[in-house]
Amino acid sequence: MHSARELAVAANSLAELEAALETFEGCPLKATAMNLVFADGNPEARVMMIGEAPGAEEDRQGLPFVGVSGRLLDRMLACIGLDRSSVYITNMLFWRPPGNRTPTAAEIASCLPFTERHIELAAPDYLVLVGGMSAKNLLARSEGILRLRGQWRPYQHSGLPRPIPALPTLHPAYLLRQPQQKRLAWRDLLSLHRALATGWDPLSKT
Ligand code: URA
Repeated sequence: MHSARELAVAANSLAELEAALETFEGCPLKATAMNLVFADGNPEARVMMIGEAPGAEEDRQGLPFVGVSGRLLDRMLACIGLDRSSVYITNMLFWRPPGNRTPTAAEIASCLPFTERHIELAAPDYLVLVGGMSAKNLLARSEGILRLRGQWRPYQHSGLPRPIPALPTLHPAYLLRQPQQKRLAWRDLLSLHRALATGWDPLSKT
């Protein structure tokens, strides 16, 4: 059996990466999931959004963010003039954890090489890290999402020619439980909008 890293690095296109995940047997979540949930939206988009893991509806349809959280995410994107033709959307995990339980560190680690390659191949201008799980794992930070959100940080990886500005933000599932926090998510969306509209380099700190 090839390792996750070997399979991921050998993929030279998004289609090859998805095909590699179809053959990958190193993530136990695959055994209980109905479908692989790879990505949705426009792979050529300037923005790539990375959530946590598929839920029941995502597992049924094989697409990320198509349940209740996804509908809120779509409304949030619409506020700054974006939709699934102008963003590319994926998750840190490609299969649903049974009963939506919290994924284990081993499950996250087994999928991480695929996400790292996914980012290299999609090569977005900006990353939006939706929720604490993607923010912590991709930025190697230990703070909670309420501390990380709203601050652009460089996402670096050996295969990238330059760091990609990454913006952690609150997960829509959290916002559905804590609607008063939507004002914080709104600030993050405005920061993303500013970057897209003006070409401002969020890593330049000006
Ligand atoms: N939550 C996520 O993080 N991703 C999904 O695809 C759905 C819900």
